Amino acid sequence: MINIGVLASGRGTNLQAIIEAVEEGKIKGKISIVISDNRNAFALKRAEQHNIETQYIDFKCFKNREDYDKKVVECLKDKEIELVVLAGYMRILTHYFINAYKNKIMNIHPALLPSFPGLHAQRQAVEYGVKLSGCTVHFVDEGVDSGPIILQKSVEVSADDTEESLVEKILKKEHQIYPQAIQLFSQGRLIIKGRKVFIKKR
Ligand code: GRF
Repeated sequence: MINIGVLASGRGTNLQAIIEAVEEGKIKGKISIVISDNRNAFALKRAEQHNIETQYIDFKCFKNREDYDKKVVECLKDKEIELVVLAGYMRILTHYFINAYKNKIMNIHPALLPSFPGLHAQRQAVEYGVKLSGCTVHFVDEGVDSGPIILQKSVEVSADDTEESLVEKILKKEHQIYPQAIQLFSQGRLIIKGRKVFIKKR
């Protein structure tokens, strides 16, 4: 049973999928805190509805990104968090944060990395005209969407797809693979060697 901390800035559908996976016993873990940099994030409401502790931390109260991250890490350490899950968290983590939770931070990105990193990945995919896109769960390193890949799932993109329709298609897959990746971590089955993540058999 691992202690999970989730960082989210927005609507929190991935958080919801993770909460449900925990409640259904598909993840052997506990979400001990949900932290947001956005007071109005719907993710905070979702957590409250499930009696999960929440904390809003206002960036304006800190003099730089590192000081902000120090505060976030302090909250996570207070709760003895063992895995940090980024679920639509709109801040790039500093070196300080990544070092404090080395190989213990996961992110989900709505594209098949290394294609279309950064913002608006689904728009980038539609504009490029790819026939396949999808989502990627990866460990977080110093770069943007560049850490070792844990799981990926593809979706077909048709010429009629819009950014909005692709967002929806990919979200369904996100909600499947994020809980799966967290469960694999909680079982101690993810082994990182260089860029590769090996998944140990049970
Ligand atoms: C998802 O598309 C995720 O891939 C990206 O941010 C979005 C968050 O959505 N990192 P939600 O807040 O989980 O609904």
